[in-house]
Amino acid sequence: MTEPKAPRRRATASSRAAASSRARVLQVLDAVQRRGASASAALTDGLGGVEPGPDRALITDVAYGTLRWLPALDAALGARLPDPAALPTTVLDALRAGAFERLVRGTPAHAAVHAWVEEVKRLPGPAARLSGLVNAVLRRVDLADARGPAAGAGLPEPLWLHLAASLGPHAAGAARAMLQPEPLWVTAYGDDALELLRAEGAEARPGPLPGCWALRPGRPLGALDAFRRGAIQPQNPSSAAVVSALGEVAGRRVLDVGSGHGVKAAQLAAAGAAVEAVEIDAHRSEVGRRNLARLGLSARHHVVDASVPLVGVPTVDAALLDAPCTGTGTLRGHPEIKLRWTPDDAQRAAARQRAMLASVAERVRPGGVLVYAVCALGLEEGPEVVASFLAAHPEWRAVAPSVPLPTVPAPIGAWLLPSDEGLDGFYLARLERAERDRVGASPA
Ligand SMILES: C[S@@+](CC[C@H](N)C(=O)[O-])C[C@H]1O[C@@H](n2cnc3c(N)ncnc32)[C@H](O)[C@@H]1O
Repeated sequence: MTEPKAPRRRATASSRAAASSRARVLQVLDAVQRRGASASAALTDGLGGVEPGPDRALITDVAYGTLRWLPALDAALGARLPDPAALPTTVLDALRAGAFERLVRGTPAHAAVHAWVEEVKRLPGPAARLSGLVNAVLRRVDLADARGPAAGAGLPEPLWLHLAASLGPHAAGAARAMLQPEPLWVTAYGDDALELLRAEGAEARPGPLPGCWALRPGRPLGALDAFRRGAIQPQNPSSAAVVSALGEVAGRRVLDVGSGHGVKAAQLAAAGAAVEAVEIDAHRSEVGRRNLARLGLSARHHVVDASVPLVGVPTVDAALLDAPCTGTGTLRGHPEIKLRWTPDDAQRAAARQRAMLASVAERVRPGGVLVYAVCALGLEEGPEVVASFLAAHPEWRAVAPSVPLPTVPAPIGAWLLPSDEGLDGFYLARLERAERDRVGASPA
């Protein structure tokens, strides 16, 4: 049984090693669009064995860029092709990636067209015979043909309408910002972070918050000493800003719900909070515990479902509910979301968020504070969740959140918008519980 497997593995490895950069791009595009992979997992796979350098940069840029721009590229290609859906998927993906290279990435037209025509000639079977068509279409394709606000924003129509309903005049700018590549943002832990990074050749420029840097690490993050020694944590500045909406947490007991890999739990622990980290997924909770340990920090971890009453979790001074969501504020790093999103997803996420908010609020003492946040930009998962909570819980009120980045007011709470600088989009609300029953027994 095991013998036939060894030659197959060797064949896969050697054919991978021989694959051209653009063949690897096609592999990533196929995995994301037709095999349900996330862009980051597909890219990690597609980059297997490619050393840091120009090939790696090309594969990353073209695969991610094509996925980010896909709705706009398809609209532009649709004007030049009678029936794109009738093409073999590899040829269609070659056209999309070629159009991205020529029209967005700025590869000189003749080089982009030539590279993709040659790639199509190497495709197996009858697809190779379509190289002439690829040549003709790539020479003429033009983004000016991607008409209408949805295509202009690089979004499928339903998602564009969803974002336009919540962000109004800010929607187009937010969507276009998420078409750009993202810097590798890190939060520094410890005074020697920058020194360590520079000593190993990483370039770092300051971000919009103290202790936040945009890195060009020069090699995979996990290979950096600064990472291994717990001096840095990948984190978008918007994610860090959300935590600061809790205000002063030193010496307070703080619940971090949906603690995941512990990025926000680490920030809270480093600020002096006694953190109770709640996560439904045991594996994620364990990764979070190890991540905090890497950073020299700790929390008490609870593997429980926060959409039902929280048993075994103490009453706290403050809670952060970083709720699971559709992630429509993170399309830059997760472009696959825009290709799969449906309005039902937002409704389903909102139902879970409402249940979690009610259950988490129960654990906050009178006079305490709760920050509700999602990295999604629709009304359903943001202001509407908070409005229905407030309607059923008169002891709570919303106050304007104070964060160290620019925000745009939402009907309740605020939006942190995706920006050209590379910030992710979030919704956040700061909720305060009344000091009821001041003279009575404390409801511990
Ligand atoms: C947006 S992510 C949180 C990221 C994390 N706070 C961080 O900054 O690293 C949401 C997390 O909520 C968790 N989650 C989903 N449903 C949950 C539930 N019912 N109870 C507790 N955690 C839940 C997910 O597993 C996921 O890790």
